[in-house]
Amino acid sequence: ARKIIIDTDPGQDDAVAILLALASPDLEVLGITCVAGNVPLQLTSKNARVVCELAGRTDVQVYAGCDSPLARDLVTAEYVHGKTGLDGIELPEPKMPLQDQHAVDFLIETLRAHPAGSVTLCPLGPLTNIATALQRAPDIAEKIAEIVLMGGAYFEVGNTTPAAEFNIHVDPQAAEIVFRSGVPLVVMPLDVTHKALTTRARVEAFRNLGTRVGHAVASWTDFFERFDMAKYGSEGAPLHDPCVIAYLLKPDLFTGRHINVEIETTSELTMGMTVTDWWRVTDRAPNAMFMGDLDADGFYKLLTERIARL
Ligand code: BDR
Ligand code: CA
Repeated sequence: ARKIIIDTDPGQDDAVAILLALASPDLEVLGITCVAGNVPLQLTSKNARVVCELAGRTDVQVYAGCDSPLARDLVTAEYVHGKTGLDGIELPEPKMPLQDQHAVDFLIETLRAHPAGSVTLCPLGPLTNIATALQRAPDIAEKIAEIVLMGGAYFEVGNTTPAAEFNIHVDPQAAEIVFRSGVPLVVMPLDVTHKALTTRARVEAFRNLGTRVGHAVASWTDFFERFDMAKYGSEGAPLHDPCVIAYLLKPDLFTGRHINVEIETTSELTMGMTVTDWWRVTDRAPNAMFMGDLDADGFYKLLTERIARL
């Protein structure tokens, strides 16, 4: 099984991504590291445990990491995810413990303890934990197999400001460190995730599984949709973060280009923009496999089949 660490700020779509990973025997989740993002750290590190318990996986190690971005004040997104971050269904308070170790220390220790190229990082929120680990322990860069992350946009531009996607906008300094780290990157931007839209039929397929987990996934996506349908006028809501895990399971669902991506960190107007050289108009070296399209039916088929196992 491929070893992964999920770095996350749950969030309903983060929650579905975690469930997809836990449902997949081809992935071994070494740990879940939590970061401030959609909601503050105290809630994201609680929500990650709520999700593990829902999946019956109280053995998963959950760590709390950075509670604010490297250089900016934390911006949260309760207007999307609700006050708890996981609004849509009420789930029991988690009983499983939060690990004592700081998420950044766990990342550094785990990467150092494994052979180079054997651990993949899956960031689903702002990149604060990952950037802090790379800054504190530059030797881990060559240990990381690859970083497969959700963030940024090219054609879809911004969902938080006219120019920026939420995860990159919250901590652009951290994103810059990650994009300049030399670690192989695979990026799932809004261009992909805005094609991973829920429809009535797709949500009903989760509900019709007749399981607690299927019911929770349907309830979360229903909640999430209320916001996105009003905003985008589309049929459903984008399930952003599960695209990262789906890529690990079935990379041929996605197509993209290996190109240069730089992060805007100075202009307030375009702060956190991913400046994406899609047409290769510069000679800057490619640093990311930037995805542009996905097979949405194949994605939902995979997601539903796997969620059914929990
Ligand atoms: C990203 O922001 C969060 O609201 C979602 O969980 C996703 O990671 C989408 O821009
Ligand atoms: Ca997220």
